[in-house]
Amino acid sequence: YSKVTMSRNIKIGIIGGSGLDNPDILKNRYEKIVSTPFGDPSDFLIIGQIGGVSCVLLARHGRRHDKIPGTVNYRANIWAMKQEGCTHIIATNACGSLQEHIPPGTLVILDGFIDRTVNREQTFFDGQPGHPEGICHMPMEPSFHPLLRHVIIEAACKIGLCVKDGGCVVAIEGPRFSSKAESLLYQKWGADLIGMTTVPEVVLAKEAGMMYATIAMATDWDCWRSSTEVVSHVGVLKVFEENVEKVIQLLRAAIPQIANENWDQSIAEMQAVVNHNIVLPKN
Ligand code: ADE
Repeated sequence: YSKVTMSRNIKIGIIGGSGLDNPDILKNRYEKIVSTPFGDPSDFLIIGQIGGVSCVLLARHGRRHDKIPGTVNYRANIWAMKQEGCTHIIATNACGSLQEHIPPGTLVILDGFIDRTVNREQTFFDGQPGHPEGICHMPMEPSFHPLLRHVIIEAACKIGLCVKDGGCVVAIEGPRFSSKAESLLYQKWGADLIGMTTVPEVVLAKEAGMMYATIAMATDWDCWRSSTEVVSHVGVLKVFEENVEKVIQLLRAAIPQIANENWDQSIAEMQAVVNHNIVLPKN
């Protein structure tokens, strides 16, 4: 990776969902315990390199998987990544499939979300001491960074890995799975996948001016499909484990490609959107 074009000013945060928190993908790694003005992230950060590119790995639910989706400190997780100098975040997510054409094992590079969470902190700008000043009304389109998505999809094509370009996830509060009536409703809304953690992660990454994309893996059929079993946590983990190697291959392929792009303009644009939408208090 000695290409002269390689970006020197990027760092990639990887948020590992259920099943992807194995630090082995990082070379020269070390652990770093950090704290933020929003409290502690889910676990220590693991800092190292993938394909020569600086990366920071964080297990979303903690390595011991002791945090349910509603109590993950998403603000601390994103802030910790930002504090560490991350410019990009690649999130991985286990999701239920709501569509016949997305069988378990499929990887989807998300491009939309529907928020059905309740009671999660969705902004850094909350008026509390030590937090950023003002109020921030962030636009949510595009929710996932188009160029980052594009580079990930191209990298998948190059290694012959089939991924679905685009998909809308409905984020539910959990920790329970959905009722059949809810599952059918979300299908009618046009959602492709169902998960519990995309919101507020994607929202906070945008507020932090970071480029964010998700590699979602369909792990089950939720509970709408009469010919298959109803979702279970054990089933989700089993399918994730059977297919996790694809996610790791994709990260290994995509990350050097990301580093080969020039992100200066994207970084400036993301920050400009944030600045443009902050309302400062009147004196
Ligand atoms: N994560 C994995 N499968 C899921 C499902 N069916 N519903 C919500 N979150 C999930």
